[in-house]
Amino acid sequence: MTLNRKHKKQFNFHAHRVLSHHKVQEMKNYVQHGDVSVYDHVNSVAHTAYKLAHGLRLKINEKALIEGALLHDFFGYDWHNDKVKRKLFDMHGFTHAKRAKERAVKYFNIDRHTQHVIESHMWPLTLRNLPRSREAVLVCIADKIVSARETLFHRKSGT
Ligand SMILES: [Fe+2]
Ligand SMILES: [Fe+2]
Repeated sequence: MTLNRKHKKQFNFHAHRVLSHHKVQEMKNYVQHGDVSVYDHVNSVAHTAYKLAHGLRLKINEKALIEGALLHDFFGYDWHNDKVKRKLFDMHGFTHAKRAKERAVKYFNIDRHTQHVIESHMWPLTLRNLPRSREAVLVCIADKIVSARETLFHRKSGT
């Protein structure tokens, strides 16, 4: 599935504000799966979710989907290597979506719709945070697809 020029332009238009921020650039230093940084991971998830939406011809809030996808793992630490965060590591799967949402609100002042995309992306692990919008469902699915690919093949995907 590839994006046409118009959709690529729209994607970049919405992604720019988030990707150009120095706190998001820091995600290049954190490992997500294998050799893939958190920065590359969120880019793959955003592209995959966006492609799914257009492939299925779904009417979506593009800003909420793209910003939510790019910020869904904006938790701000290396969950593999930081020994100080050992305790956090144990709980990472359960806690990082909430932390990512709180940081996204702090640095980007995102709306409720975008907040929901971030806080529900770990469902069904975080049982109570069921994805309740199209954008949230797409990001939740895209995250599973991309994470499986990254874990199995240790490389970037989706862009
Ligand atoms: Fe996550
Ligand atoms: Fe993720």
